[in-house]
Order: sequence, then structure tokens, then C-alpha cells
Amino acid sequence: MMSKSTLIGNIVSVSGSILSIRMSENVLSTMPIIDGIVYRVGQIGSFVRVPLGYADLFGIVTQIGADAMPESLREVFLKDSSPVVSTRWLTVALVGERADHRFERGITQFPTAGDEVHLVTIQDLNIVYGGASEESSVVVGNISASESLPARVDVDKLLTRHCAIVGATGSGKSNSVAILLQAISSGPFKSARILLIDPHGEYSETLKECSKVFRINAASELEQEELSIPFWALPFDELMSSFPGRVNDQQRDYIREKVLEKRLASVAGLKKQPPTQAITADSPIPFSLKQLWYELDDFERQTFAENRNPNTKKLIKPGNADRLQSNQYEPASAGGGSPFLNFQAKGILAFLDGMRTRMLDQRYRFLFEPNDYAPNLEGTCSADLDSLLAGWLGHEKPITILDLSGVPPDITISISGSLLKVVYDAMFWAQELPVGSRQQPLLVTLEEAHNYLKAGEQAISSRTVQTIAKEGRKYGVGLLLITQRPTELDETVLSQCGTVIALRMTNKGDRGHISAVVQDELYDMVAILPSLRTGEALILGEAVQIPSRIRFYKTSHAPRSSDPVVSQEWRKPRPDPSAYQAAIHNWRCQRFMKEGK
Ligand SMILES: Nc1ncnc2c1ncn2[C@@H]1O[C@H](COP(=O)(O)OP(=O)(O)OP(=O)(O)O)[C@@H](O)[C@H]1O
Ligand SMILES: [Mg+2]
Repeated sequence: MMSKSTLIGNIVSVSGSILSIRMSENVLSTMPIIDGIVYRVGQIGSFVRVPLGYADLFGIVTQIGADAMPESLREVFLKDSSPVVSTRWLTVALVGERADHRFERGITQFPTAGDEVHLVTIQDLNIVYGGASEESSVVVGNISASESLPARVDVDKLLTRHCAIVGATGSGKSNSVAILLQAISSGPFKSARILLIDPHGEYSETLKECSKVFRINAASELEQEELSIPFWALPFDELMSSFPGRVNDQQRDYIREKVLEKRLASVAGLKKQPPTQAITADSPIPFSLKQLWYELDDFERQTFAENRNPNTKKLIKPGNADRLQSNQYEPASAGGGSPFLNFQAKGILAFLDGMRTRMLDQRYRFLFEPNDYAPNLEGTCSADLDSLLAGWLGHEKPITILDLSGVPPDITISISGSLLKVVYDAMFWAQELPVGSRQQPLLVTLEEAHNYLKAGEQAISSRTVQTIAKEGRKYGVGLLLITQRPTELDETVLSQCGTVIALRMTNKGDRGHISAVVQDELYDMVAILPSLRTGEALILGEAVQIPSRIRFYKTSHAPRSSDPVVSQEWRKPRPDPSAYQAAIHNWRCQRFMKEGK
């Protein structure tokens, strides 16, 4: 049916910004053709226009059919009307208005019952989506309703109000992150500063052009740099949790005291010394962990010729702190005579043993032997934290990828939490400086963000993410959280996210969690999430001009997590089974080499 008319119905009731619309009986088809273009009337997520004098109000369809009929009118309409008429209802949430050819969010005047409701044409959509400022926004895809329209995201709002990207596995989260970060880095924002913590090492290939990658066992031919996270930058409790054993409270206090002593002792080696009263066991001051271990271990092992007399030590063979070898003492007498045990020993030998094993474990070199940041036995090292931060955040590329795929899984979260804390604390204390994030805002991107918060309230990862979510804005630190399990994302953190990018989501509980942060009027839109295509998303919140259903572009280099094309791979001949040998070798070496050399 050819028509020039865009009328689709009339308003029956207005409740706040929610309209109930009865579709006009003259709209015979739900797919009218106007000026040669086919439109679909009443798609969830599509727009309608309500002309109001010189202005136009715009609203989003959130509900269609009999359910959209207001409760109060049900009886009247269901009695009098044919089944077709009684189901032709729309619920619409008003979202913005146009006056003087400009679209603005928010409503200044409201319609009344009886007002006409029209279909939104391509020209109208241009006005609705054209409102975004091109200066502060980047294009990440197309508007689903009209492929010719670019979907824009506002970088200012994205960063200062935080953003969450949620969706089921395989819905296209990693792809959208890559597209978004690429769009930001390739635009006019030459000094963009983005820190991406990448637990599975999936982004280095996709973001090759615009990023610098730090990883354990860096591939120098790919210009990657070695990732070092000096253990001494960790607060005391986090340092303790990187060892396998457990200690009781008194033992912990004793070790804390020793760590403080060590940190205090090595202050002299710093280029600029802080006052001693400012130093705690948590201060990021280098000290020798080997020396600490050696001294703690020695105290546990000592035996004396005379009871309680430390001047009569029965040392047989001195150990070596650097090689983590214990001093050897004559064994204590079993019958209660000489040699005597050190009565002050704390009973932490088992813990110290675990500590030693961990320090010798090659997989933990990035932490305990962090190259230039490894202190000597006196507690001084050739490079300080400032060069670590300058390396991570001060280079020319807009994105820094900290690839944690080589970090042992049991400590990935604790390490990334600590790393985040180091960066955030540095930004906090740099707030008045040109490198501080008020002057040079920082976007922190966390893949698998639920893991940070799942780690428990006391864990450094959840505390840091919560702090950034609550206070980061003041210091110019923004969060981009990516998760497939929004239910595990703390509600306070999710509610701090001004923008939610929701991709396909089939799980009802997850959707329920999302609807909790969605503005009430748009609540019903969450119902379309299970039917979104891969890469299609509902963007709600501050970074978009208007809640939009969009399709992200697809990156040319897919993130490494991309699905294999099973039907193609299974057609190829089976590879030589000798490659399993290389697999095992890679496993033992903790790296991913194609050849397994
Ligand atoms: N916009 C898009 N258009 C077409 N295909 C896409 C789009 N986005 C993603 N894909 C494809 O969908 C698959 C899954 O994408 P992606 O790895 O981004 O999902 P994910 O949500 O990050 O999954 P996971 O939760 O497993 O990390 C990939 O093969 C990718 O190429
Ligand atoms: Mg992914």
C-alpha cells in the first residue's frame, strides 16, 4: 500500500512520560511504504513522533499488543472491539523532543489524550540521531533501524560516568570493546590514555596498531614489552596472599612488623626520601624479600647451647639469602637438654617454606624477580615505580594492554587488582600534576569484570573497582566493565555505570539485573535482549543521545577468542599428532609458541 501518511494512531492515556496508544484502524498494514521506503510499525525499540505545535516529541516503543492496553481500559475495549482492534496497542516511553531542528533529551511539554502519533521517517531519525556532538563522540556502528545512520557514543560521558558492556558469551562483547577502543584511538584524541587489562591475551592482535602490549614472556619481535609487577608495590595483605600458606593473626602481625622494618631500612636508597612517619607496611618502597625470608627463616631454626641465650647459637652451616638457602643449626635435643630450641620462634616454618617455593617458581618471576625492579639484598633496585608507570602510561600509543595470560590463574585477579590499585593510587596522588588523570583522563577497561568483584569484599580487586566506580570520576579515571555475568557485578558498581551497552542476553536473571539500572520507563525494552543478533546492542544511558538499538561494526582482526568455524576446520586433514609434544612443552614453559621450541 502506497501512502504519504505517517499517522499510526492516537494517544489514549498519558501517565508521566508513558503513553498508551491505540493504533488507528486505517493503518491496514504494519509495513507501510512511504516515499518508496518500507517502514515497520510498532517494532520494540523503534521510535514514534508526537507532533505538538511547532515541536515534536519522540518516544520509544516498549510494548506492543494486548499487553500494551492500559489496565483501566481493558474491560471497555475488550467488550466492544473485534480481536484485531483490541490487540493493536502500543506503549511508548517519551525520551526527547525537537524544537528548531535540534533534538534534545528530556521533555518540556506533554501531550494529551487524543493527540496524533506518527511513524518516524528516515528524515526524522536523522534529526534524532544527528543531535550528538560530533566533536566529543565516536562512531561505533549503525543504528539497527536504519543502516545508513551511524551510531555515535559520547566519549566524555563514557569516561566520566563509567560504562558496562554486558552480554551472553559469544554475543560480541570483545568485538564491541575492540571497535570502541579503535574508534577512540583513531580519532582526533591523540593523547587518549586507555589501560586494558586483558586476562586472556585476546586483544593484542586486534588493537595492534594503536596499542603497546606488556606481557610475561613478551615476544620482542612483536614489539611487546616484558610485564613486571614488583611485589614490593603491593600492600602488605596482598603480598601475603600471593604466598600459598596461611598464618594466624599474631604471626601475620609479626611478619607485618618485619616488612615495615625492611621498608624503613631501604628508604635511604630512594632518590627522594619520604618522612619515616609516613611509611607503613603497605608503602610502595622496595625491600629485599629474599633477605626478609632468610631472616624470618633463621629465627625459626636457631638452636642455642644455653637455654634462652641467643649468644650461644649452634650454627653448623651458614645459608645464603640470595639463593634462598636456610642456615643450618644443630638439631635441638629431644630430651629437653642442650641444644635448646629458640623459645621465641613463631611457628611459621611451613609458611616460609611455601613462600620460598613460590619465590623459586619461574612462573612468578614477573612478581618476585621483576627485572629492573628486583631489589638487591640491601633493598635497592635499579629502577623505581615511576619508570614502571611511565612505561605503562606515558608512551605514545593511546592504548596500553596489560596481557595477563601468562599469570598463573590462581593469582590473576589478585594481581590485576593490585596492579589497578598501584595505577589508581598513582593517579590519586598525581591529581595536581600534568600526568594526573584530571589533566590526562584515563579509561580503565576490565574484561571479565565480575571476577574482580566476586573475589569477596575484602579482596583488593573488588575494593579497588568499587573505589574507582565511586570516586574515579573526580580524578578523571573512568571504568569500562565487560562481563557476561551481570548478576555477579555488584549492584552498586553497576548502578554507577552511566551507560550500559547490553548485547544479547538469554539468561532471565541477568536481564532482571540489567533492568534494575535501566530507567523505569524503558524497563520493557529489556525484553528484546534475547533476540538481538550477534554484535547488536541496546545502548542505554548518558553516552548516547537517545536509547538506541545499534549494530557494532566488526573488527577486521577478530579478537583471539573468536569462535572457530567448526564446519570449515573439520573439513581440513587432521594435523600431525606429534604437535601434542609441542603442546606439552608449551605447557611446561608456560607460553604459546606455534612450534614449541
Ligand atoms: N558486530 C558483529 N558483526 C558480526 N559478527 C560479530 C560481531 N561482533 C562479534 N561477532 C562475531 O561473534 C563471535 C563472538 O564475538 P566475541 O568474541 O566478541 O564475543 P564475546 O561476547 O566477547 O564472547 P565471550 O563471552 O566468549 O568473550 C566472533 O566470532 C565474532 O567475530
Ligand atoms: Mg570476549
